[in-house]
Amino acid sequence: MHILAIETSCDETASAVVTNKGDILSDVVASQVADHAVFGGVVPEIASRRHIELIRHVVNQALHQASIAQEELSGIAVTQGPGLIGALLVGISFAKALAYGLEVPVCGINHLDGHLSAARIGNELTYPHIGMVVSGGHTSLYRVEDEWAITQIGQSIDDAAGEAFDKVAKLLYLGYPGGVVIEEISRGVDYSSIELPRPMMNDGTYDFSFSGLKTAVLNLVIRSEIFPDLDLKFSGLPEAKKPKPGKGHLIPIIAAAFQAAAVDVLASKAIKAVKDFGMDLLVVAGGVASNTALRGALREKTEAEKIRLVIPERKYCTDNAAMIGIASIRYFRERRYSSLDMNAVSRWSSIMGN
Ligand code: KG4
Ligand code: ZN
Repeated sequence: MHILAIETSCDETASAVVTNKGDILSDVVASQVADHAVFGGVVPEIASRRHIELIRHVVNQALHQASIAQEELSGIAVTQGPGLIGALLVGISFAKALAYGLEVPVCGINHLDGHLSAARIGNELTYPHIGMVVSGGHTSLYRVEDEWAITQIGQSIDDAAGEAFDKVAKLLYLGYPGGVVIEEISRGVDYSSIELPRPMMNDGTYDFSFSGLKTAVLNLVIRSEIFPDLDLKFSGLPEAKKPKPGKGHLIPIIAAAFQAAAVDVLASKAIKAVKDFGMDLLVVAGGVASNTALRGALREKTEAEKIRLVIPERKYCTDNAAMIGIASIRYFRERRYSSLDMNAVSRWSSIMGN
């Protein structure tokens, strides 16, 4: 069985072909980063328009790379939510039209279920386990009883971790998107001169908070007078601002201290959940899971606690359609199809279901 998967929930137009055995025959991601970078963040209207322009080409390329004709498809999987409503609608409308034309079923998939499912690419997962999604829109911990029973046990009460990376990068005039830049600029930097808070790290819950950490960075940037004319409105980010002479060296140190604090909180809470629930497997996915420092900290802590750790390959951490295809396999297997009047869901309280 060949499944065509489509993902357009944010700023990546993505399509993949997967088989019902979990093989990935193609995986195409057209990033819109350049279109949004000048604005310092994703502009929903621009994202929708770019998805419309790109979707047919991206789907054609996914079919071409998989060496199959669209008539050979047995089903279409598409991200139904959560995400930007206009962006989601492009993928959903395209998927429904194609499914109708080809007379094949369509399955609407939860984007976060997709992120967690990326861990199944090349790995056998055991149940129950703890799953953590760390992305630009979400930071959540789940108790995964089996592939259908996924219960959220904690989440960020304010900013998502990826959002914090993006905002801190913006504060330091490092460009957009922030995660990758912060990772690069922090590499090998000694940040011991700066101590940033680890909000909620030891509060006994499985929730997170990142906005206080972001504010601590902001206060540090103001106090150390790095930028003579700091733009606190954060409206757009046309080009990197020059720091005051003699202050530039502080930027990588602050970035590295922020990354260390964020990584510390994420890794500690994930390990706590695994231990508290007596589990032996931790799955971590989402864009921030591609961060080398986080992967290293998780590896170190899980090894020390004899916990098995599964993190998808980097390209399957950030948004892609292969993960949506993999998540959909069980839907097709159990014929849990969506109807053609399926609609986009911008906020989706439960990770499951159609
Ligand atoms: O999962 P994803 O691609 O999209 C959402 O579902 O949100 O995650 C995007 C987020 C962005 O906030 C981005 O800055 C962050 O993941 N990210 C990273 C890294 N790569 C992407 N954060 C830290 N380190 C990275 N290497
Ligand atoms: Zn995502």
